[in-house]
Amino acid sequence: MTGIDHDTAVEDLRDHLAAQLTRARRRSTALTGAVDDHDLVRQHSELMSPLVWDLAHIGNQEELWLVRDVGGREPVRQDIDELYDAFKHARAARPELPLLGPAEARGYVGEVRDKVLDVLAASPLEGRRLLDRGFAFGMIVQHEQQHDETMLATHQLRVGPPVLDAPPPPRGGPVGPAEVLVPAGPFTMGTSTEAWALDNERPAHRASTGAFHIDTTPVTNAAYAEFIADGGYRDPRWWSEAGWAHVRAASLVAPRFWAREGDRWFRTAFGVTAPVVPDQPVVHVCYHEAEAYAKWAGKRLPTEVEWEKAARFDPATGRSRRYPWGDEEPTGLHANLGQRHLSPAPVGAYPAGASPLGVHQLIGDVWEWTSSDFRGYVGFEVFPYAEYSQVFFGPDYKVLRGGSFGTDEAVARSTFRNWDYPIRRQIFAGFRCARDAEPGESA
Ligand SMILES: [Fe+2]
Repeated sequence: MTGIDHDTAVEDLRDHLAAQLTRARRRSTALTGAVDDHDLVRQHSELMSPLVWDLAHIGNQEELWLVRDVGGREPVRQDIDELYDAFKHARAARPELPLLGPAEARGYVGEVRDKVLDVLAASPLEGRRLLDRGFAFGMIVQHEQQHDETMLATHQLRVGPPVLDAPPPPRGGPVGPAEVLVPAGPFTMGTSTEAWALDNERPAHRASTGAFHIDTTPVTNAAYAEFIADGGYRDPRWWSEAGWAHVRAASLVAPRFWAREGDRWFRTAFGVTAPVVPDQPVVHVCYHEAEAYAKWAGKRLPTEVEWEKAARFDPATGRSRRYPWGDEEPTGLHANLGQRHLSPAPVGAYPAGASPLGVHQLIGDVWEWTSSDFRGYVGFEVFPYAEYSQVFFGPDYKVLRGGSFGTDEAVARSTFRNWDYPIRRQIFAGFRCARDAEPGESA
């Protein structure tokens, strides 16, 4: 590369990073601007922070990494670091903290952002691993977008008239056979080349599976309703010991936000109650419910390795794609992402997003529970800090894949790993099933 080409490439990267930061902020502003100050400071659920905490926390992380670390600038508000450290205060305790009020929080994140754009304009975007291809800025964009999904979940838990609006998702369509056979063998899992991939997605490595079948689509509301109607929630045969204990203790009878009226199920989403849409993926089920349904259906949940293979492996070339449809960035034709719609789309709504083997809607719509615990890949290295993922490794958390309608495309790579407790239902999570191939069935 010549000096001029290099300068142009750095300038293009700066423009890209600035645009991504602005896009994330537009969403944070919309989510926090949709409600009044009272709703911003109050806690809508013990599971969530007040929205005003998320907002100032977004600014605080941005200040720590981009203003102070990357920029080497003076702190903006060192005095509030402790309040917005997610490890210092449980979500349930956050409303009692002396938090910045709505106007103060907005002023703070704006001041930080101004300094960050200044830092970006001056940064060489090289010379340190943290700066390589704009990683630190990308990490902060993803952090804000992930909190935007969390804030969307807070909106879903908020009780009151609707304040968010979006067009309905596209219509469903044909998806072919109910299951797809994935051949046995190795494939490349994880990544060492995605610029913004987080430490837990790295490094790229060979992983292997036996031959297995995976559902062509996520499990739909109609299918899930059959499990309920068949007494699934009352039959210990389908549940693990921990799942059965939980379903009894929490008195679960249906997905969260479902209610029965007469012989029909209704679902409340963002303040609107409507009949459950049969061909949309089920959402707001916990790991235990997903696991019980799969057993009832004579199947099981896919492992994380199986999920990623179904999403990325191209049998024609033997290589792993960035996305099920190929290497190009998602558009509205590929997947239901980015809060473009406020619900999962019916199955078959994204034929252009299918994988080479014909698996639909792996990216977007609903996070998909896998049977895998959250652990580091072989060769895992903490970067840039242990609290990002390493402290969560172990048997307490299950991995979710693929992103939801609330996840931004800056996050929803097919290598991206999310994790949560197996009892959590406020996240936009559903699932699909898998099963071992019969001997001799391997493609
Ligand atoms: Fe955070």
